[in-house]
Amino acid sequence: MFTLRPFLSARIAVSHCISRKVITRNTYKTSCEALVYRQYGPHSEVLRLEDIPVPHVGVDDIHIRMLAAPVNPADINMLEGNYGILPSLPAVGGNEGIGEVVSTGCHVHTVKPGQWVVPIDCGFGTWRTEAVCKANEVIPVSKDIPVLSAATLSVNPCTAYRMLMDFVSLEPGDTVIQNGANSGVGQAVIQICASMGVNTINVIRNRPNFSEMIEKLQSLGANYVITEDMLQRPEMANLFKEVERPKLALNCVGGSSAGSLFYHLKYGSTMVTYGGMSKKPTPLPAKAMIFKNIKVCGFWMTQWKRNHLHDPAKLMEMVSYLTEMAKRGQLSTPSYTEVPFHDFNIALQATMDPYSNKHVLIMN
Ligand SMILES: NC(=O)c1ccc[n+]([C@@H]2O[C@H](COP(=O)([O-])OP(=O)(O)OC[C@H]3O[C@@H](n4cnc5c(N)ncnc54)[C@H](OP(=O)(O)O)[C@@H]3O)[C@@H](O)[C@H]2O)c1
Repeated sequence: MFTLRPFLSARIAVSHCISRKVITRNTYKTSCEALVYRQYGPHSEVLRLEDIPVPHVGVDDIHIRMLAAPVNPADINMLEGNYGILPSLPAVGGNEGIGEVVSTGCHVHTVKPGQWVVPIDCGFGTWRTEAVCKANEVIPVSKDIPVLSAATLSVNPCTAYRMLMDFVSLEPGDTVIQNGANSGVGQAVIQICASMGVNTINVIRNRPNFSEMIEKLQSLGANYVITEDMLQRPEMANLFKEVERPKLALNCVGGSSAGSLFYHLKYGSTMVTYGGMSKKPTPLPAKAMIFKNIKVCGFWMTQWKRNHLHDPAKLMEMVSYLTEMAKRGQLSTPSYTEVPFHDFNIALQATMDPYSNKHVLIMN
């Protein structure tokens, strides 16, 4: 298991030069607010709003003012001690978010005060009002996109992008099938596929506002939106008279929903699992596996980023691709409910509720 740095390990950074700042002395803070957990467990029991010190800005460091940070399912898993990596405790919650650089140490040349930055790695602890970190722990993001787009770009859209680019070669007219299609990742998959001329079959749970959700996903470019029940009916065969069988399945849910995705794939295709929202194991039909020679893979964005730390250009290329899509209006964010930082419990609870909007914490 990896270990992330605890927030209290304030760096002893003796600066030999004065850091560059865009703020005046009286706006520089020595402490900030953060959502801290000291043990793993349910968020309502373990997460607390605390004042924590803002470390001194060393020569290789940057000081960031956090602007916004989403609450994603993985953040909840981490708080509960049920994720692929876990921080040393105490820790600050939140893995994704956007911050503005306030000041930089004098050896920093990759980012400037005033720029927006997002953390590269998981476990940054984005649910805080200020942060000091090494300059190479973040990458800059264009300020030409809305703040919520920037705050939510580096996990879900990047995951969607990698799964569409790295497993099969998709051509216009090909088909991708996915469950959890209304999720943050799912909505990015729809939009990236639409921009590539790739068809999507999008599976969602039945819900009270089903037709509203169909309309929403179609407005993003979804070709077909069906329920998990429909996915298991024989009439699915009719769909494949209109559209190619999928060569890629993206599984966010697991359980019987994932088994059914698998069943509809074409010969030689691939199923990528990236989430397990149903918390159920995935049954794989042996017949489809044997006679269709289907590959089954997993994907984890955190591991991809760690594997490419030596090659930041590859990370920048992905972020630029998605930023350009956002600028062209081809990549919009899901409907986010903006929640003031102090009301964090509302956002965390909503992230666990079914059929809920995504929630983002606003720091100022
Ligand atoms: N592997 C990676 O690198 C990676 C990266 C990003 C995200 N993820 C994972 O991907 C998943 C989605 O993340 P997100 O941020 O996109 O989520 P999100 O926007 O919060 O959406 C969650 C999705 O899961 C569905 N869902 C929840 N419980 C379900 C259940 N019991 N059965 C079926 N569907 C259920 C929701 O459907 P309703 O609307 O019907 O509730 C919704 O579509 C999470 O598991 C997350 O950890 C993985």
